[in-house]
Amino acid sequence: MLDKFERYPLTFGPTPIEKLERLGAHLGGKVEIYAKREDCNSGLAFGGNKLRKLEYIVPDAIASNADTLVTIGGVQSNHTRMVAAVAAKIGMKCRLVQESWVPHEDAVYDRVGNIMLSRIMGADVQLVDRGFDIGIRESWQEAIDDVKAKGGKPYAIPAGASVHKYGGLGYVGFAEEVRAQEAQLGFRFDYVVVCTVTGSTHAGMLVGFAKDGRERRVLGIDASATPAQTKAQVLDIARNTATLVELGRELSADDVVLIEDYAYPIYGVPSEETKEAIRLCARLEGMITDPVYEGKSMQGMIDLVQKDYFPAGSRVLYAHLGGAPALNGYGYAFRNG
Ligand SMILES: Cc1ncc(COP(=O)(O)O)c(C=O)c1O
Repeated sequence: MLDKFERYPLTFGPTPIEKLERLGAHLGGKVEIYAKREDCNSGLAFGGNKLRKLEYIVPDAIASNADTLVTIGGVQSNHTRMVAAVAAKIGMKCRLVQESWVPHEDAVYDRVGNIMLSRIMGADVQLVDRGFDIGIRESWQEAIDDVKAKGGKPYAIPAGASVHKYGGLGYVGFAEEVRAQEAQLGFRFDYVVVCTVTGSTHAGMLVGFAKDGRERRVLGIDASATPAQTKAQVLDIARNTATLVELGRELSADDVVLIEDYAYPIYGVPSEETKEAIRLCARLEGMITDPVYEGKSMQGMIDLVQKDYFPAGSRVLYAHLGGAPALNGYGYAFRNG
């Protein structure tokens, strides 16, 4: 589906799929749980889902003759860390707007984890006192204008690399990769569980899996706590991406399955149940998930298994999208493990 698009390799290649035997057994053994390890996809600054997206965006950035990548996220954004790494790798400058999306308990929240890594990689990091929103942001536009005013040539990448003309392509590639891996494994996954916030990961998967009629088997677990906006954004990106890859069919709002039950209390703050899911997965599998994104989708998957949402015998693929560096900003929440 992606042959006609230019791709700048930033990842190691296909990501491994591993069975989470002990987690599956702990949850009663009725379904088989697997994880696709997007968190281990690259040597660039601990990797994660943004790199698949950026592989299809970087050729456009290079072709534009830009000298500075400009993007935006929260203080502990994984996305901004990934853009800083990519800028370093391709020899561009990087301007990051880090908004105050999350109330936090740790005094070192803006010194550790993702933001520290971005600073080490040489990004120009600007802290901005504005709240959470997955849409197009004024502070980002201002940063783009500022780079221009100082004689630079900015290339604008929106939050999560999502609302970008090529933002959905990378995760179409994920679906194609899973199909190839399924052929080797000799079975197909019945469900894919994915954390959804800015939307292009879910949207790309949806388009990729629509090719074999599985778009509604992609279960987005909302972590934005603004699900109406997130769902609308997923649909927009999916429709744009479907046109780009010539999917040949219309996608409707019903094709976007977004489960809203696990994002509480708000974006970036883990509930007690999210923390329990993080501990459980860490203690049974040694697999680390974070309090903002993957811990919430892990909580969702565990709860759905416990509620018998998946018919017995289902094979469930959990997309592990990365994000562990943010844990450094949550030392208080995990002070006792
Ligand atoms: C670790 C992690 N998981 C999930 C997501 C959600 O992906 P998306 O923003 O494409 O919906 C993000 C980024 O927002 C992330 O960094």
